[in-house]
Amino acid sequence: MSIQRRQFVKSLSAFAGSTFLTPLLNPLISAPIGKELASITHSSPEDAATDEDFWYHVRQAYTSSNNLINLNSGGVSPHPKMVQEKVELYTRFANEAPGYYMWRTMGRVRESTRRRLAKLAGCSPNEIAIMRNATEALETAIMGIDLKKGDEVLTTDQDYPSMLNTLEMRSRREGIKINKIALPVPSEDPSEIVGLFENAITSKTKVILVCHMINLTGQILPVRQIARIAHKKGIKVIIDGAHTFCHLDFQIPDLEGDYFGTSLHKWMTAPFGTGMFYVKEENIEGLWPLHGYPEGEDDKISKFEHLGTRSFPIELAIADAIDFHNSIGTPRKAARLRYLKEYWTDQVKDIPGVYFNTSLKKEHSGGIANFGLEGWEPGELGNTLTGQYQLYNTAINHKDIKGVRISPNVFTSLEELDYLAETIAKLAKEKR
Ligand SMILES: Cc1ncc(COP(=O)(O)O)c(C=O)c1O
Repeated sequence: MSIQRRQFVKSLSAFAGSTFLTPLLNPLISAPIGKELASITHSSPEDAATDEDFWYHVRQAYTSSNNLINLNSGGVSPHPKMVQEKVELYTRFANEAPGYYMWRTMGRVRESTRRRLAKLAGCSPNEIAIMRNATEALETAIMGIDLKKGDEVLTTDQDYPSMLNTLEMRSRREGIKINKIALPVPSEDPSEIVGLFENAITSKTKVILVCHMINLTGQILPVRQIARIAHKKGIKVIIDGAHTFCHLDFQIPDLEGDYFGTSLHKWMTAPFGTGMFYVKEENIEGLWPLHGYPEGEDDKISKFEHLGTRSFPIELAIADAIDFHNSIGTPRKAARLRYLKEYWTDQVKDIPGVYFNTSLKKEHSGGIANFGLEGWEPGELGNTLTGQYQLYNTAINHKDIKGVRISPNVFTSLEELDYLAETIAKLAKEKR
């Protein structure tokens, strides 16, 4: 048994042993999850990225459709079979006496999940709140910072609509002002982006909301540099990391933001309805949660988790998703996702009529890319790919971005991407 496999089983056992769910979990602890995945620990992430035997086993761990090619992991990802099974198991168990098992067990299990999320994020467990999605995490930050009439929030017109709506609502309700920068598409010049933010800061700017990766294109933004210029002026920085946690290889504190919200059901492939909120320790006390909390928790991360009854089985299975993710490892996943993007984009980038809204260079994007075809409207192209060719994608019709977003994942096969490239080549000819 390899060291990693041994550690993997040990961590699962430790996890199970920490709860009184142990008898039910034991049969699953010996399941061969991760065995094949651990077998290439000797290779570098770049070598592992092209090891098709390894990725074949990863694919088998998911229940991917053979009839629809899912190229929309950027929306929400499926979770591996083992995680699905755990959600079912915990659901059956919780239903034996929901109040007893959910309320009495949950606290203890949540602490071990929090510790493990913090380890992945590279921060203290005291800085991690477990949430139901990125929206809940980011809106806690957006709504929770004290602002008064006339204060300004700086963001971009490529930020996620729910976050912009939340800011607009605060503007209607409290009279704060929202300034939105238009970003170049695509961009290969981080200093240009930092300059756009710097120039848009005014003496009234109190908060910056910025995506680590833009969902429309997969563009990576220089959030650390933006945070540095913001902090010099006493401005708080909220980083929308919905697309980067477990997709790119980084530690959250290295981004130097004050708050970071992410989904876990995207790139970690945790159960649907899971998210995470990082609050830099020194900022906890000054941030109001969305829901009330008892006195004495002002500086405690738990104050953000008074969410009422939610799904215990789903939250509990985050730990199983972490196990699965760790058996691949973030560096290998990041390298594979980039490799997949390069694999299909290399095949189509020189075809007349094909254009990209994403820089294909490794510093500027990860696994997501947005392309368009001359003569095709995004909706028409997206629907044709999904409806006629079973290539499920996301059409993007933004004022500055017209195209289709392709977001493969660790379960995507090269054969599927060959078919995508062939289809793009075929459609590119149709309107020329
Ligand atoms: C950039 C960005 N932020 C936030 C969200 C919201 O994520 P969730 O559905 O987990 O709330 C998304 C979802 O796609 C997103 O792309």
